[in-house]
Amino acid sequence: MAKKETVVVAGGSGFIGRAVVHRLALKPNLEVRVLTRDPARARARIGRDPVQLLKLDLLGPTRGQELPEALAGARAVFTSVQFDGYPVEDPGRKRTFEQVDLGATVALLEAARRAGAPRFIYVSGVGADARARHPAFRAKGLAEDAIRRSGLEFTIFRPSLVYGPGDRVVSMAAAALRFAPVLVVPGNGRQKLQPIFVEDLATCAELAVEGRGRNGVFEAGGPRCVTLEEFLKVIMQISRRHRPIVRLPAAFLQIAGRLAELLPRPPFSADAAMFLLADSQCQPEALQREFGLSLTPLEEGLSYLASR
Ligand SMILES: NC(=O)c1ccc[n+]([C@@H]2O[C@H](COP(=O)([O-])OP(=O)(O)OC[C@H]3O[C@@H](n4cnc5c(N)ncnc54)[C@H](OP(=O)(O)O)[C@@H]3O)[C@@H](O)[C@H]2O)c1
Repeated sequence: MAKKETVVVAGGSGFIGRAVVHRLALKPNLEVRVLTRDPARARARIGRDPVQLLKLDLLGPTRGQELPEALAGARAVFTSVQFDGYPVEDPGRKRTFEQVDLGATVALLEAARRAGAPRFIYVSGVGADARARHPAFRAKGLAEDAIRRSGLEFTIFRPSLVYGPGDRVVSMAAAALRFAPVLVVPGNGRQKLQPIFVEDLATCAELAVEGRGRNGVFEAGGPRCVTLEEFLKVIMQISRRHRPIVRLPAAFLQIAGRLAELLPRPPFSADAAMFLLADSQCQPEALQREFGLSLTPLEEGLSYLASR
């Protein structure tokens, strides 16, 4: 039997990472190594997939020594890391876009170069731009620049909202529909989104590990652009639960964010408010062409809500 090749996944216990890990674990020619701060918790999240779990904190003081060893012999590195509490930064605990989206990516990139891992796959986001004012978009833009300059083969995905079982936004909306009298939306609810089903992104990531989309940056969105409020209405329709929508004005969110920042461990921030209010529309045509993908229609992707 041919020797297995190793793929290292950072963020493999997370929402997007898990979908990618499930795909890669099915491939008989691949050995999947997931980097995680807590292997027992990661195992509970990933399930019984035959993957190796390696304890490693991408923000830890010893990452410089640990990472090259963790990446030794890897054919590809996939990363979809995000800090706990996102999008509310907590600089005291290094939970910032700069430390994680940029810092952890650069650390992985450097280690990949040193370990001779030739291929790097990064989950960025719509609006990534090194000159952006908002730290989320700036950090992802700078990370993308570092990847392009690295000399490694790369594939960068820039998703709009990613949804599916175990996600954040749809899960929160579904819980609110069950337990709350109203659905609250940030701002006027007219933020544009192009939600992509997590399995579609996982399909592309799996192909990227094999070399598809080499040295390309791909916006990753679903087949339809909707406003946040339209998205919530589709969720209500499919789950057959309806609630009135209450809009929280943008100015209120900004003020709430500024006030929350005065607390020792802020639960919210002005930057987080801006993030929730931003459009996230994109052009997925290049993604479809390159990866031969037929994007899952929104109602089909959300159909898992019907049986809950
Ligand atoms: N979800 C979306 O709708 C969406 C849309 C656009 C872009 N994105 C981007 O996609 C990426 C993944 O998002 P997600 O929703 O899958 O995130 P998530 O579910 O919150 O997962 C975060 C992952 O990061 C890992 N992590 C966090 N801090 C770490 C550290 N210090 N060391 C090692 N691992 C660490 C966690 O692993 P452990 O806890 O096991 O250590 C976990 O696997 C993010 O960069 C996000 O900005 C997401």
